[in-house]
Amino acid sequence: MFLQIILNLGLVLVGVATVAYMLIHRQYTYWERKGIPFIRPESYLGTYADAVSKKKPLCDVVSELYVKFRGKKFGGVWELFSPRLFLVDPDMVKDIMIKNFDSWSNRGLTSNPEVDPLSQHIAMLDGKMWKVVRTKLTPTFTSARLKSMHYLVLECAKNLEKYLDAVVRKNEPIEAREVGAKYTTDVIGSCVFGIQMNSLNDEDAAFRKMGKRLGGGSGYWSRFVHLLQGSSPWLFHKLKLSLTPPDVEEFFLRITREAFEYREKNNVQRHDFVDLLRKLKNTDQKLGKDDVVFDDKLLAAQAFVFFGAGFETSATTIGYILHELAVHQDIQDRLRKELREMKAANNGEITFDGLQGMKYLDMVLQETLRKHPIVPQLERVSVRPYELPGTNVVLPVGSKCIIPIYALHHDPEFWPNPSKFDPERFSEEGKAKQTPYTFMPFSIGPRTCIGSRFAEQQTKVGILTMLDKFKIILCEKSQNPLKYRNGAGVFLMPERGFWIKMIPLGADDK
Ligand code: HEM
Repeated sequence: MFLQIILNLGLVLVGVATVAYMLIHRQYTYWERKGIPFIRPESYLGTYADAVSKKKPLCDVVSELYVKFRGKKFGGVWELFSPRLFLVDPDMVKDIMIKNFDSWSNRGLTSNPEVDPLSQHIAMLDGKMWKVVRTKLTPTFTSARLKSMHYLVLECAKNLEKYLDAVVRKNEPIEAREVGAKYTTDVIGSCVFGIQMNSLNDEDAAFRKMGKRLGGGSGYWSRFVHLLQGSSPWLFHKLKLSLTPPDVEEFFLRITREAFEYREKNNVQRHDFVDLLRKLKNTDQKLGKDDVVFDDKLLAAQAFVFFGAGFETSATTIGYILHELAVHQDIQDRLRKELREMKAANNGEITFDGLQGMKYLDMVLQETLRKHPIVPQLERVSVRPYELPGTNVVLPVGSKCIIPIYALHHDPEFWPNPSKFDPERFSEEGKAKQTPYTFMPFSIGPRTCIGSRFAEQQTKVGILTMLDKFKIILCEKSQNPLKYRNGAGVFLMPERGFWIKMIPLGADDK
C-alpha cells in the first residue's frame, strides 16, 4: 500500500515535470518554429539573464543583442520563458510604433485597480480606457499651458538658487541627481499638485520622502510583487496584489483630494494641472460597457503618474547633463555665453520665449538624451495579428516586442563615434544627416511621453539656474567615464551617482 502511494506520487511528479519541460521547451523553440533568427538563452533567466542577475546593466545586454542581430530587421529573444520580438531596423521601429500603432498600442502591464486605485494611470492603462484618458490629458502640456505655468517653474528655480548658495558655501562634493530630484519634486509638486513642496529647504519634505519610496526604497515584498506582475500577470491578477505601498496610496489620494477641496472652497485658479483635472471631474465618457468615469481616484492616479514618471527621469537627466558639462568645459562656456545673451535680451530673466530661442541649450539636452537615454528600451504588446514584413509569419494577438532605444542611440552606423559627447549632432547641419527613427529618448508615435515638453522646460530652467551662478567641475568623488548601474531596472542609472563640485563664478565669468 505504502509502496503504491510512493509510486503514484512519483508518477504524478514525473508527469508534472514532463508537462513543465514540454511547455518550457515549446516556449524556447517558439522562434525556431516560426523561422525567425533568434539568440538562444543560456539559462532559464532568458536572453536578459546578465541584466536580471545584475551582472551587467540592461543597456549593455540590449546593445549586445542588437549587435548580434546586425544586418537583420528583427530577431527573437526571451524574457525569462516569454518570447519577444527584438527590433533592429529603424523602419521596423516606425512600422510598429507609428504605421501599425493600432495593432501594437498596448504596454501590457497588468494592474488590479479594485485594490490599487493609483495603478489606473495612463502608463498602465491599455485599450479604449488608455485612449480616452490620454485624449483627455493631452491638453495638459500644450505650449500655451506650459507658458502659463512657467512662473511656477521659475519660483522653484529661485529656491534652487538659494539652496545651492548655502550648499556651495560648504565647498563639498555635490550629488547632482539628488539636487535635481529635490528641484523636480518641487516643480512637479507646484505644477501638478498646486502645492509648495519645499524639498529644497526641508530634508524631511513629505514629497521627497515619497519620491525615495518610489525610486529605490522597495523591499523584498515590493520586488516580488513587481516580478510576479511581469512574469505571471494571471497569478498577479488572481491574488489581487497591489503595486503601491499603502502609505504612498493614502498620501497621494489625500493630497489630490485636499487640492480639489481647497480650490473649490476658495475659488482658486492657477492654470495648472489641478485645474485641468478639476474640469475633467465627474465628466464621463460613454464607451458602451466600458464607461470611463473621471472620479477622484482615477484623477489622483493621473496626478500620481505625472509625479512618478516626471521627477526621477528629469532629475537623472539633469545629473547626466551636469556630468557632461563638468567633463566638457568648452561646451559649458559656450552654453553660459548663450545664457548671458538670452538674459540680456529678456531683462535678465529666463523667460519662456527666451528659452525656446536657446538653440545650443537644446543641442546639449538632445545630445545628453541620445548618449544617456533614461529609458533604454521599450515594450509593446500586439492587439491584432501582425504579419512580419517580408515574411509569411503572422504573430498572434498578445505578442510582445522590444524597441532597443539605447542600442539605436549608440549604433556607429547612425551616430559615428557614439560614446563621444557632441552636441553638434543636433545642429541644423547635424540633424540633416540623422537617420530617421534612430533617436527616440521620449519614444515616438501616439504613445510617446506625454510630459516631454514639460520635462524639457523644467530640465532646461534647472540647468540654466545652476550655470548662471556656478562653474561645474569634476571632483575627487566623480566617476569618469561614467558607468551604469547593473540590473534590469527600467531607468538608466549611474553606478555611483553624479558627483560634481560647483564653484561660484567670479566677476570675470559673469
Ligand atoms: C527627461 C525626462 C523624461 C524622459 C526621457 C521620458 C521618457 C519617456 C518614455 C521613453 C516613455 C515611454 C513611451 C512609450 O512607451 O512609447 C514615457 C512615457 C510617459 N511619460 Fe515620460 N519622460 C520624461 C519625463 C516625463 C515627465 C516630466 C512626465 C510628466 C510630468 C512624464 C510622463 C509620462 C507618462 C504619463 C508616460 C506614459 C504615457 C502613455 O502611456 O500614454 N514623463 N516617458
